[in-house]
Amino acid sequence: MRLLSWILPVWLIWTSLGLAEELSRELFGTTSDDRTVDMYTLKNKHGMTIRLMTRGATLVAVEVPDRDGRFADVVLGFDDPADYESKKNQYFGCTTGRVANRIAHGRFSLDGTDYRLSTNNDTNHLHGGSTRSLDKVIWEATAFNRDGDHGVMFRYHSPDGEEHYPGNLAISVSYTLNDDNEIRIDYAAETDRRTPVNLTNHTYFNLAGAGEKTVNDHVLTVKSDFYTPVDDTLIPTGEILAVTNTPLDFRQPTKIGERLDLLINTPTKGYDHNFVLAKSSPGELAVAAILRDPSSGRTLTTSTTAPGVQFYGGNFLSGQLGKQGKAYASRSACCLETQHFPDSVNHPHFPSTLLEPSQTYRHTCIYAFSVGP
Ligand code: GLA
Repeated sequence: MRLLSWILPVWLIWTSLGLAEELSRELFGTTSDDRTVDMYTLKNKHGMTIRLMTRGATLVAVEVPDRDGRFADVVLGFDDPADYESKKNQYFGCTTGRVANRIAHGRFSLDGTDYRLSTNNDTNHLHGGSTRSLDKVIWEATAFNRDGDHGVMFRYHSPDGEEHYPGNLAISVSYTLNDDNEIRIDYAAETDRRTPVNLTNHTYFNLAGAGEKTVNDHVLTVKSDFYTPVDDTLIPTGEILAVTNTPLDFRQPTKIGERLDLLINTPTKGYDHNFVLAKSSPGELAVAAILRDPSSGRTLTTSTTAPGVQFYGGNFLSGQLGKQGKAYASRSACCLETQHFPDSVNHPHFPSTLLEPSQTYRHTCIYAFSVGP
């Protein structure tokens, strides 16, 4: 009943070809410290539906049809905020930052100052820190309609020193769902002091449906000739190596599971690698990866302006129960995190993640869904 009473005036419906497009907002729940978490539901004219919540500017659900028109939710998540706050949540669907992925020993030096961030992943800093990283805070949200497409703009002001990062950082993340079954994510950020920024989205996909056993039969293409190898703690060594003759060569469509054995006994325990994207110019919006599930025909094409993509094969999923009580087994979903290279702030020859006060950080990622044979 409480949920119903929260359905708000932003609710818009109109009919197009007999199908209703919708945008609605409701209360998702409250956090352990009594903060309200809202959920936005967006639907396009084909019935594709996505859900977004204000905690972590997080993508909670993506319902898309298979080749026979049957809908399934293809992303991992939970049914209430308490589960998102629990240990079961391995960054499901969230906006990740201020600096996504790892910073070695949580340390970097800028303009003569040594910064020490929290170390929440062995000896390293992961995904923006332990308590006030962007996945854990409540964002302000505004729904919009642009040229007939529904969207939600999330804003968060991260104060100077939050998670020990320098500078006040004003961040916006907007999600738009269009009638081509594309989710477009546009990131922007401005600072008043030089600071590293690397924002991404950490959605886990299983195109057969969240909770299906494995993505090892999904077929992946990555538009990348090179990757950044890592040490035993998953920090880049600084080298940029060719994918040729390695299990990371996805230039031709290849089953994820086909060469997994070669990686299981390595520090990444499977796929968890940053691929250097082939671009004709820096910042070009280009296809990074194509993921296809032969069983359902569902296909996800990921495009980005970012220089890299982390392909994470869900190695650390542990069987936790997610939406509708479904278990998320190890390697039952994978992430395609468009990003700057991990630990860039400590590798001057990597594309820079430093944002100057005079600049605006921008990054676009498009997750486009289609069906094929
Ligand atoms: C990223 C990392 C992984 C892991 C997950 C979260 O993808 O690269 O190593 O930390 O996030 O579990």
